[in-house]
Amino acid sequence: MSQLSSRHLLGIKDLTPADIQLILETAENFKEVINRPIKKVPSLRDITIANIFFENSTRTRLSFELAEKRLSADVVNFSSSNSSVKKGETLVDTVNNILSMKVDMVVMRHSSPGAPHFLARNVKANIVNAGDGTHEHPTQALLDAFSMREKLGDLQGKKIAIIGDILHSRVALSNIFCLQKLGAEVMVCGPITLLPKHIQSLGVKVELDVRKALAWCDVANVLRIQLERQQIKYFPSLREYSLYYGVNKKMLEELDREIVVMHPGPINRGVELASDVADSDHAIILQQVENGVAVRMAVLYLLAAVKA
Ligand code: CP
Repeated sequence: MSQLSSRHLLGIKDLTPADIQLILETAENFKEVINRPIKKVPSLRDITIANIFFENSTRTRLSFELAEKRLSADVVNFSSSNSSVKKGETLVDTVNNILSMKVDMVVMRHSSPGAPHFLARNVKANIVNAGDGTHEHPTQALLDAFSMREKLGDLQGKKIAIIGDILHSRVALSNIFCLQKLGAEVMVCGPITLLPKHIQSLGVKVELDVRKALAWCDVANVLRIQLERQQIKYFPSLREYSLYYGVNKKMLEELDREIVVMHPGPINRGVELASDVADSDHAIILQQVENGVAVRMAVLYLLAAVKA
């Protein structure tokens, strides 16, 4: 297979296992490219991409922009905070105006779940979801899977624990879909208040004790406590969360084998993850960020090749 099954990347749920394999294999080639002295290839020389971000981002936004530039695409960046969205323009009108300037692809982050799906139905461009509210963050899951494969090889039968604020996490949902399609076993772990009610229906194991989750897994993907999405208190205090669910070096030393620790960033240091783990050889957090560029190059390159 040499072509994706869709011209959009809206979520991992819509991808086939073959799509995921194709993206990860293509990303391996692009990782080699971005480690050359000349990190650029002409693959998307005639393509213009708009990055439209309605929510804050450091990693995803810069990573997409670098991926686009390394593929020789023309790039425009749009942020809602200094745009005419503030004057009441609709999402579709805003994007259609951007597209009328001969833009081919749109990378979008939005706080509303489903916003990229809505856009894909209503405008004529390839749409890439860079995170839609609490729903999906497909390129994060793909770069996480790529990084796990670098450390562990084939993920078939590997045990991945996703630890933390599962309820508000688009990274958790995309990771669950992606890892299961690659044959891994997935566990979610966190306080009961931060686990979605019907999470077991997704075929994941559920664990409330973080030490048991660490003892079970090959990889612990520790997620950020998303205070900005929490309208009510889900645990008594950050100190208490850190005491019961924070991952620290002592906990890893008590295990009978080494595990890989990941975090999508940004980290709340000392809350979900102690600095003695985040900055240690257990953690591959910066490798994840590095791999993000290669994975996003693969996604953009493959989507541009899909015929409408
Ligand atoms: N992991 C991630 O999506 O980070 P940003 O919010 O900084 O893009």
